[in-house]
Formats: sequence, structure tokens, C-alpha cells
Amino acid sequence: MAAAPSLLILHPRLTFFATTLRHFSLIHYQFSVHPPTPSRLPVLFARSRHHSYSSSTSNATETPHAGRSSSVSSPPNQAVDYAQKIDVNPPKGTRDFPPEEMRLRNWLFHNFREVSELFGFEEVDYPVLESEALYIRKAGEEIRDQLYCFEDKGNRRVALRPELTPSLARLVIQKGKSVPLPIKWFAIGQCWRYERMTRGRRREHYQWNMDIIGVPDVTGEAELISSIVTFFKRIGITAKDVGFKISSRKVLQKVLSLYSVPETSFAKACIIIDKMGKIPMEEIKKELKAVELSNDAIEDLLQVLSMKSLTELEEKLGGAGEAVRELKQLFSLAEKFGYSEWIQFDASVVRGLAYYTGIVFEGFDREGKLRAICGGGRYDRLLSTFGGDDIPACGFGFGDAVIIELLKERQLLPEVPVEVENIVCSLDPDLQGAAATVATLLRGKGQCVDLVLENKPLKWVFKRAARINAQRLILVGSSEWERGMVNVKILSTGEQHEVNLDDLQ
Ligand code: HAM
Repeated sequence: MAAAPSLLILHPRLTFFATTLRHFSLIHYQFSVHPPTPSRLPVLFARSRHHSYSSSTSNATETPHAGRSSSVSSPPNQAVDYAQKIDVNPPKGTRDFPPEEMRLRNWLFHNFREVSELFGFEEVDYPVLESEALYIRKAGEEIRDQLYCFEDKGNRRVALRPELTPSLARLVIQKGKSVPLPIKWFAIGQCWRYERMTRGRRREHYQWNMDIIGVPDVTGEAELISSIVTFFKRIGITAKDVGFKISSRKVLQKVLSLYSVPETSFAKACIIIDKMGKIPMEEIKKELKAVELSNDAIEDLLQVLSMKSLTELEEKLGGAGEAVRELKQLFSLAEKFGYSEWIQFDASVVRGLAYYTGIVFEGFDREGKLRAICGGGRYDRLLSTFGGDDIPACGFGFGDAVIIELLKERQLLPEVPVEVENIVCSLDPDLQGAAATVATLLRGKGQCVDLVLENKPLKWVFKRAARINAQRLILVGSSEWERGMVNVKILSTGEQHEVNLDDLQ
């Protein structure tokens, strides 16, 4: 049965929502002050013709609606002038999740959740729509230009969240001292970025985040990387497939301090350096000069950024500095956690977000075919940029899109079949109610049941049972039902027996 248009009419004092179906009509309405008088209803329907709908009834002709009864019982499904052929694809860069995709997403999120809980983290979430101010940072980040932002009906500047970290910071400030430290929170949420689309990069993606607030030591970063490694192992990804590049923004800070580069240029320089490999080196140098870095500082910086060994870095910066000390501690902890083979020092990793202050890391696929799988680091000063007191913090974001691409590459994508344990079917239209009783009984015992809702031939029922991977077919026939019995067929073996309703498990 095709659904006719939905009507949504907003009036300052009345919100009226009516859904009409071809064979019956349904009206929900809500009043802020007065209910609509019957005589107002036709007017509302008439106005609705100016909205656009996708309607399968567009060929019908319109009839006038003379009063309440005709408006309600004769829906305006005959109108043609609002019919509009829609593009059935979702907006560019966004996805639908039909059942098979949804099962895969649920499998992925289930693993995100289980790993987070294994590490003692609690789940949180925030609104997808946030105040735009949360994302306005002045360091020239790419994320700022990719913002989906607009003015709402109350003239407030709002944005669809491009990431979860600013919302986390907002909530931590809001909670204040009521939450004991350290906070260990995880979230799985949809993020929006108007990105140039590449493999694994979309305009909407889901991100798994784990963050630790209140731990100043690199034990925090070491724990976070351990959780990502645990996740990879669970889904069949090994250290041969994936690695983590690790560095610290304190390395850059140290180099820049040697050249008296102003503090305000630091975040800007990091954002520019993050573009290395994406834009020509000449362009990078030009941009660095524009944020007050001398030629000598730039050359020294680029030399340090090419370093791939901690020993080399130590020789350059001396072992006493915080950057080297923390990196060494992290590598030593990685040994104790047992994930040394997954990580490597790479000074070129700086990350493209302004707020990182210390260790930064990125997960990458060793074949180099995909963009970063995940990334994170320490952001000890983000809270004060929102007017709160600074609390040491570190965390990571892990997208759902790149990992799926990687699993496809490695042929590790799991089959996640639909699984409904039972299919219940009546053999006679008069026994539809009896079949409903059986389904309710089983569901009450925690069994999943697909109830056949129409009178279908058995061939159809078997086909459906196979599609949903049902283990049992429960047939409700009149002779058994009269004796309080049903017929249970085990679909894998073909074995069949009558079972008393009271014994049905
Ligand atoms: P990010 O590096 O911008 O960091 O994003 C983290 C991860 O989200 C990326 O490594 C990637 O897996 C995924 N991702 C980002 N943008 C897209 C996109 N357009 N399409 C598909 N996947 C994408 C952050 O967002 C930080 N807030 C992470 C963080 C949390 N740092 C500390 N706590």
C-alpha cells in the first residue's frame, strides 16, 4: 500500500501534523493554546498544497474539502500540483544505512563500545547541533572552512559538529567539580565536515572518541593507544597492516623557541606543517614565513620534521627536554603494554587541529593506500580557550569510514547476517490471532520472532525463513491448536515435532 503525502503545517499557535494513507487517515495534532475548530481544518489542508511531496497518488485529481468530515475521511491524496520527483540518493557525501549496512555499522560500534568498556570508560554523547562559536579557532584550521553552519530561527549561529572534542570540553566545564577526576569518557557520534571527497573521507562520518581528562602524564596517551591496538586485534588487524606514527608538538615548540618565534604563531605553524605532502613545499615555506618564521627557523624545523628516530632527535634537542623525555617514556610504556611493534617515532606528525599541546599520534595503513585511520593527542589547554580552568587532557578520534575501507582491502570485512531465531506462521487465515499469541509468548521468553502477517503459501515462508536465517519454523495449524499444540520444525535438520504451548521455549 503506497503512502500518500505527509502534511506539516506550522502556525504560531498551532502545530498540526497529519499523515494520510490511501485506505485510512490519521491525524495527530498538538495545541499550544487553542485546539483548531473543525472549520479551520480545511484551510490547513488547502495551505499544505504549497509544500512539496513525493507521492504515489500524484495522478489523482483534487477535490475541494468542504468540512471536517470530508477533510479527515477524504484525504487530499488527489492533488497533483505538489507532486515532485525526488532524487532518491542521499545528499552528496552522506550515506543511507540499509539493513545490511546497518548490521555492519552495529558490529563496528559494538566493538568500539566493548573495547571502551574493557578499559573502564563511560559512554557519553552530545548534540549534533552545537553553537558555532565552539569551532571558531583562529589558527587557520581546515575544519573551520568545512563547517556546516547556519543561523537558526532565533538568529543564533549554530553548526553541525565536525568533531566531538569541543563538546566534550564544554560538558567538562559545565560539570565542573561535580565529576571526580580522572574522567574517562567515550562517545560514538556523527560528525559533519564539508570535505573534498576521497576514499574513506566523507561529508558525514561517525567517530569513536576516547578521552582522559585529568591525567597529566603520558600514561594517558599510552593507555589510549593500547585501547586502539586492542580494537584492531579484535577485528583481525595486525601490526603488519597498521602502525602508529608518534611525535610531540613540544618538539616543534622547542625548535621554534630557539628562534624566538612568538607563542601566537605556534598553533598556526602546526596547522601549516600538517599540510606537508598535501601542498607543494614552496607553498609551506611561504605560509610559514607569513606567520613570522625566519628562513633559518624554517630550515631547522623542516630538518627536525624529517627525523624518524628518537636517538636522532635526542642528539638534536638534548635528552633533558620534556619532548624527548615524554616520548621516551611513551615508548617504554608501549613495551610494557606489549604493543611496541605497532608504534614508530615520526617527527612529521603534528595533526591539523590547533588545540594539541603535547604527544600527537596517527594510525596509518602500512600499504599507504588510505588516509589516517585515527588520530589524537594531548590538549592540555583547550578548556581555558572556552573560559574554563585548564585540566590536562588527551584523547583520540577514530572514524568509521577508513577502517571499513581497510577491512575491505584486507578481506576482513565480516559477514553480519540477519538472524531471527523463529518464524511463526498460521496455516489458516482464521488462526492469525493464534499465531500472534504464539509470537507474544516466545518474545516474552526473549526469543526473536518474525511473525508472518499475511496468509502466505508455505513455499514463501520457507524462503523467508532462509533469508532471515531462522532456526525454527513454528506452524500454527487448526488440529494442533485445538489441542493447545504447535508444530515446531528445526530448519537445519528438518526435524519436526508437536510442542505443547506451555513447553514452548
Ligand atoms: P581528526 O584527525 O580530525 O581528529 O579526526 C579523527 C578521525 O576521524 C580521522 O582519523 C578519521 O578516521 C576520521 N575522520 C575525520 N574526518 C573524516 C571525514 N571527513 N570522513 C571520514 N572520516 C573522517 C579529531 O576529530 C579530534 N577531535 C580527535 C580527538 C579526540 N582528539 C582528542 N580527542
